Amino acid sequence: MVTRELLFIAALLFLSRGSGGADGAAETPAVGVMGRRSLQPPAASRSFSRRKRDEETPSYLKWVTFEGKLPDDAVSNWNNYAKRMEYVCSTSVLGCDTGAYVPDRGPFCFFPYGEQEESTRNFKVLVNVGNFEALDWVDDSFGSVPENAVAGCPFFDTFVGRNRYGLGKISKEQRAAFVVVDGEEVWYKWYQVLVVKKGLADVTISHVRYNMSRAVEGREDVTLMKTTVRNEGCQRVWKAVTLEEVTETEHNWGIDRRVFATVHGVLQAALLTFSGTGWDVTNVTNIPWVGGASTSKYVVHIRVVEEELQPWTTCTVALEGRRLDIRVPFTAQLTRDFGDGQPHRVAMTGWARSQVVVGVRAGIKECRPIDDVPPCWV
Ligand SMILES: *[C@@H]1O[C@H](CO)[C@@H](O)[C@H](O)[C@H]1NC(C)=O
Ligand SMILES: *[C@@H]1O[C@H](CO)[C@@H](O)[C@H](O)[C@H]1NC(C)=O
Repeated sequence: MVTRELLFIAALLFLSRGSGGADGAAETPAVGVMGRRSLQPPAASRSFSRRKRDEETPSYLKWVTFEGKLPDDAVSNWNNYAKRMEYVCSTSVLGCDTGAYVPDRGPFCFFPYGEQEESTRNFKVLVNVGNFEALDWVDDSFGSVPENAVAGCPFFDTFVGRNRYGLGKISKEQRAAFVVVDGEEVWYKWYQVLVVKKGLADVTISHVRYNMSRAVEGREDVTLMKTTVRNEGCQRVWKAVTLEEVTETEHNWGIDRRVFATVHGVLQAALLTFSGTGWDVTNVTNIPWVGGASTSKYVVHIRVVEEELQPWTTCTVALEGRRLDIRVPFTAQLTRDFGDGQPHRVAMTGWARSQVVVGVRAGIKECRPIDDVPPCWV
C-alpha cells in the first residue's frame, strides 16, 4: 500500500516524464512513430473546455461509478492481444485517465500513466443503457478525435481510445494515444477513438414476436347500460326497447425498460384480436410509438328487446357482455436509422395488451309492480 502511494507521489513529482505530466517544454513529436518512452507533453494536459462535455453526452451513454460488480450494458472491447474482454473505465485520481476494467484482474481500472501501468479502485465504467446508443471505433491520429468522441471526464481533453493492444487514452495535448503494453505505457500516433453517433434517427420497432405461452387472459361480465320500461296501463302490452352502447376494442404496447420512455417512432406489429373462440394475430400494421403505442376501435352495439309487460309493471332492461383481455410479452428489434446506411439495431422486450367486449346481448333483468299507480279495478 505504502509503496503504491509512494509511486503515485513519485509520478506526480516527475510531472514532465509520463503521459500524466502537466508540465514540460513544448516539443513536436516525431511523425509516424511510437515509442516506449513517453512524449514530452507540449502543454498542460488539463484544459477547461468552454462547454461541459456532460451536456453533450447523450443520456443513454453514461459513466457509472464502479460499485463492486460490472454494471449492465457496460461498453466492452475484445482485447485480442491479451485474449480477454475489457470494459471502458475512467478515473480522475491523477487528473483524467481512461483505461480498462477487467473483471478477472479485480476491482481496478488499469490505465497508462507515467510510463507504466497504474490502477485504482476509484473509477467509473462506461455504460450504454439498453445498448441504445450507436457506438463506433473510428480511426484517427496525432491526438485528433472525431466529433462526438467519448471524453473520459468533464473538463478534460482525454478521450477513450484503443489499438490492437487494448483500451487506453487519447490526449489531445500530447497528440497521441497511450496504451499499456506488457505493463509499460506506450504511445501511438495512430489509434481508434470511441465515438457515439448523434443526430436525428428514425426509430422503428419491428420483428415483434409474441410469446403466447406466457399470455395472461382475463374475463369479466360487464353491464354496458341499463334502462327501464314501464307499463302503466291495465292491459298486458308488447313493448320494444332499443339499447345502444359503444365499446372500445383497445390494443396497447409497452416496453420493459423505462429508460426508453422518451423514444418516438413507429411500431410495426400485429394486433391481438379475439376471433370468437380464441386470440389471434392480425397482419402487421404501423402504429405510432411515443414511449409506447396504442390503437383502438369503437364498436357500436344495438340490440332490440321485445317483451310482453304485465299491467302496472316496470322492468329493468340491460345490455350485457363479457370483457376479455389478454397480456402477452414480446421480443422485438428497435432500429435507429441515421440515414447513413448503417442502422443501429437493439433487441428489446415489452408486453402487449388487448381488450375487447364480446357476447353483447340485451335482456329483461327484473320486473316489479308500480306502487303508486292505483290498480285498474279500484
Ligand atoms: C416463451 O416463454 C417461455 C416461458 O418463459 C420460454 O420458455 C420460451 O422460450 C419463450 N418462447 C419464446 C419464443 O420466446
Ligand atoms: C393479410 O396479408 C395478406 C398477404 O399480404 C393478405 O392477403 C390479407 O388480405 C391480409 N389480411 C388482412 C385482414 O388485411
